[in-house]
Amino acid sequence: MEKTPHIEVDQEGLIAKTVLLPGDPLRAKFIAENYLENAVMFNKVRNMFGYTGTYKGKKISVMGSGMGMPSIGIYSYELIHFYGVQNLIRIGSCGSFQEHVKVRDVILGMAASTNSNFASQYNLPGTFAPTASWSLLKKAADVAEQKEIPVKVGNILSSDIFYNADSEAWKRWAGMGILAVEMEAAALYMNAAKAGANALCILTVSDSLVNHEETTSEEREKSFTQMMEIALELA
Ligand code: HPA
Repeated sequence: MEKTPHIEVDQEGLIAKTVLLPGDPLRAKFIAENYLENAVMFNKVRNMFGYTGTYKGKKISVMGSGMGMPSIGIYSYELIHFYGVQNLIRIGSCGSFQEHVKVRDVILGMAASTNSNFASQYNLPGTFAPTASWSLLKKAADVAEQKEIPVKVGNILSSDIFYNADSEAWKRWAGMGILAVEMEAAALYMNAAKAGANALCILTVSDSLVNHEETTSEEREKSFTQMMEIALELA
């Protein structure tokens, strides 16, 4: 029995070295049931479900991260430091900041800018640039190319704020070339960087701040499937 404040695993070594992290724990359950073989649940503390199974014979885990940097910060820290996880891949959705980034597009978050104070804990004499690990980013880009899944690779924004009182703030980030907004990647990248682990954030665009374009559920399903096809190959 291994136990941390937020993850309780009743069998040593049950969590794989590679963990996929969707925000929603029910998404983790869906992935375990539909994509993995012989999946077993390893965590249910706070209903933040985690499962381990195999994909093409390789051991892989999937667990909810919750929403926002504090939540993914907790789970990714415990996975890395107490359960020996080496590769952490967030799979999520985001809102487009750019005309050329369309709903349903798949994005690889090369870097994650942020309005969060998460980096203050490191007392750095400057500004840290949270980045994806090159090995995972390269592999994901290669897999996408082989599978002929178009991806956009670039800088994303990890925001602490979903309902922003400043309705124009996103335009200033857009002006810096930020592709899209989500709420977790920067904390994941910083935890991984500090611990020497590997992290990547793969996103599908669920909405657009530029033109308020929307998707049908079938379209969302298709881009989700494409994102999963890339993420699962990273085990
Ligand atoms: N903001 C933040 N996170 C998101 C959004 C958004 O507009 N869309 C999907 N995830």
